[in-house]
Amino acid sequence: MGFELDSEQRRRLGYKLIDFIDAYFSSLPSRAVQLPADKRTFGQLANELPEFGSDAEAVLDDLCHELVNRGFHVPAANYFGLMNPTPAYIAVLAEFLVAALNPQLATLARSQLASKIEVETVRWIAERIGWKSRDEQPAYAGTFTSGGAEANFSALAVALAAHFPDAVDDGVATIGARPVLYASAESHHSVDKATGLLGIGRNAVRRIRVDDCLRIDVAELNKAIANDVRAGYRPFCVVATAGTTNSGAVDNIVALADLCDERKLWLHVDGAYGAAAVFSDKHRDLVRGIERADSVTIDPHKWLAMPYSAGVVITRRPESLRHTFEVATPYMPRDTSALVVDNFKISTQWSRRMNSLKLWLTLRVHGRAAYETLIERQLCLARTFAEWIRNSEQFELVLEPELTIINFRVKNAGSEQQLAAANAAVVDAVTRDGSRWISTTYAGGRSVIRAMIISYLTGEDHLRELQKALLAAVNIPVREAAR
Ligand SMILES: Cc1ncc(COP(=O)(O)O)c(C=O)c1O
Repeated sequence: MGFELDSEQRRRLGYKLIDFIDAYFSSLPSRAVQLPADKRTFGQLANELPEFGSDAEAVLDDLCHELVNRGFHVPAANYFGLMNPTPAYIAVLAEFLVAALNPQLATLARSQLASKIEVETVRWIAERIGWKSRDEQPAYAGTFTSGGAEANFSALAVALAAHFPDAVDDGVATIGARPVLYASAESHHSVDKATGLLGIGRNAVRRIRVDDCLRIDVAELNKAIANDVRAGYRPFCVVATAGTTNSGAVDNIVALADLCDERKLWLHVDGAYGAAAVFSDKHRDLVRGIERADSVTIDPHKWLAMPYSAGVVITRRPESLRHTFEVATPYMPRDTSALVVDNFKISTQWSRRMNSLKLWLTLRVHGRAAYETLIERQLCLARTFAEWIRNSEQFELVLEPELTIINFRVKNAGSEQQLAAANAAVVDAVTRDGSRWISTTYAGGRSVIRAMIISYLTGEDHLRELQKALLAAVNIPVREAAR
């Protein structure tokens, strides 16, 4: 069978899929996140490479049912997980459209309206950060990425290029002394990966200890920079995290911006999760000072309810972004009068899918106000849950939640090792039947249970059920629970 389908086939398959997705969405408020523990399998599939095709409807049927019946459901309302949201339905439709139109975002000439939509979406984000164009010249530039890791990588590449412009062509070896950057002990590991890939080595990341609120200790940071300068290193960047992965802690961006001004360092805000707060008028102060950053990472596929993938890197140093990524090619049509820059000149990627349409369409259909409501509601739920923990006899709050992640632990569990075992046993018991998902982690070096309000479908009822499950779990002796 060739790839062409006739109109009737296309519609039959399309409606089938839409009906299926519709039923899936209807099930999400009460759907189990995964199968019970004894039915989960993690082996590989062993199908032979199909030489010839099969009936499309039957294959689609099979696949959809398998994916749902045997899958892990990040979009479920009972997923209190790792920053992966229930996608907005309108964004799901946008993805379908993008796949069909398949615009090539590398160049304006081959995407035109799609590129302009992307640039407009970046502008909307920039304006929410607080960056405005001056004299018709954008005071910022940015691009959609595959996610936060690529956005952080890009931002650190730009920071390095801004400080050591010759290194872009001649390499970091020509800098003469080792460049170093600073991030909190709680910052995301994509910072380590990025510095490794940039050729300055993962050890170039100075991990600075955090205070009791798990924010970078600014005095300690200042000392570390002074020590490095004395020792002949070349500090070039500070990474502030706005919403750590473990706890949702937000570094003091204002203090870091002051420090970076004084020491002439690039300030990058990794707001993969927390920078979404700029979409709320009421809560934008959660990331106060973000407008003073040189660059920002924001992941719409986290708190902005977008399906994978959608990250954004944005900077108010457009010339540095271009210096880092611009290359010349003889095979691309050039239109020097174009006001929209070809994306390949500001991105790590060449061929690029349109990750922006889903956010653009969601904003067009639901408006920013929908995010105002979402952020307010989820912060309220997180605070209500934290209050429940605070009043609990069995659990204690480890940290006041700044955003929507709650870190707590079993009360009076004994040594740190016993506490870790008790926390793990509770999580194991709560997640064993598959109906909901929470996790353990270490925050500030301490074992904690981590629950995150990330689905727009999560409501008070889901939290009450989680509380019941936690209470039932904590009463099971550790050894029995771990079975
Ligand atoms: C704070 C932070 N930064 C960056 C990332 C990386 O984002 P992505 O998974 O989209 O690459 C994450 C992922 O959870 C994160 O929590």
